[in-house]
Amino acid sequence: MSNIRWLFILIAVAGVAIAALMRAPSIPAVPIPEDDDSIERGRYLVHAGGCISCHQDDNGSLSGGLAVESPFGTFHASNITPDPDTGIGNWQGSDFLLALKHGRTPEGSYYFPAFPYRSYAGVTDDDVLDMAAYLMSRDPVNATPPAHELPGWVSRWQMAGWNLLANIAEMDPARHNDPQIARGAYLAQDLGHCGECHTPRNAFGISRQDQAFAGANMPDGYVDAIDADALANWSEDDLALFLFIGLKPDGEYVGGKMEPVIEHNTSQLTDADRAAMAAFLKRGL
Ligand code: HEC
Ligand code: HEC
Repeated sequence: MSNIRWLFILIAVAGVAIAALMRAPSIPAVPIPEDDDSIERGRYLVHAGGCISCHQDDNGSLSGGLAVESPFGTFHASNITPDPDTGIGNWQGSDFLLALKHGRTPEGSYYFPAFPYRSYAGVTDDDVLDMAAYLMSRDPVNATPPAHELPGWVSRWQMAGWNLLANIAEMDPARHNDPQIARGAYLAQDLGHCGECHTPRNAFGISRQDQAFAGANMPDGYVDAIDADALANWSEDDLALFLFIGLKPDGEYVGGKMEPVIEHNTSQLTDADRAAMAAFLKRGL
């Protein structure tokens, strides 16, 4: 990208930041559930949310460390074990809602969208709190991930402006009358954040929702389109099988960044949920 474009981004983002900084969502205090049912639902949702691909360390704990590369720098996933010093041990229910649905830190600062909070904005409060229940039930791990590697002009406060631009670019979510397609949309768009990799972005790195799942250029290469046109030769059963074991209709296994999505997310779901995602991708877009 040219220097002119960086300057343009800086000025545009700084301008709208001022407006956005004045508004902070107010979230009432809510308890994090502690019962076994909520923890079990939360375990399932943490898989469906793809949290593990980014936050899992080499020992299977969610103490973070995966480097998320973007044109704006390299971000390291946080420690989300309940360690009070280096993780989220002191978090309240409202902190989880603010972070996952609004991209705001407990101190009122801003997360970088390498943490896909724009996708999670559509997740229900109950599901966020069940995920919190599960995370809080895990063993704490004392570990500090590496600092983000960012160019000097990128800072957290700019994300206020980025959020505002993303709000402006946002389209009303489509309503699905078929409950199976609605479930699939929730799993693919919101929890599974498939569009974070498969939807193209504009110069600000904001997803182009008018081209949902139409394929995208990521720092390490092109990510296939997965809209109904691109999947014309896939049946819903082909898709459901793919989401289970990563096998494509042409007999090849998928690779690259899709492998952890299959391993930690879609292979861990119920057959009904995989069928719902397939129904949404084939008939819901
Ligand atoms: C694409 C990778 C990615 C995925 C998927 C992801 N995260 Fe993160 N997460 C990050 C990054 C990167 C940060 C740090 C953001 C920052 O510093 O601004 C983060 C930060 C967080 C934080 C803030 C921690 C703190 O101490 O401030 C929480 C909580 C969190 N993630 C929970 C989750 C949950 C729950 C899920 C699944 C529903 C999830 N994340 C999915 C990359 C990811
Ligand atoms: C972290 C980025 C990322 C996420 C998140 C992601 N994908 Fe992918 N996906 C990829 C990449 C990269 C490929 C191509 C892999 C390869 O080259 O083998 C791919 C390939 C695919 C393919 C095969 C396309 C083809 O024509 O071969 C399908 C289908 C697919 N993904 C569906 C999904 C669904 C559904 C989700 C959400 C649950 C999802 N992906 C989430 C990165 C991602």
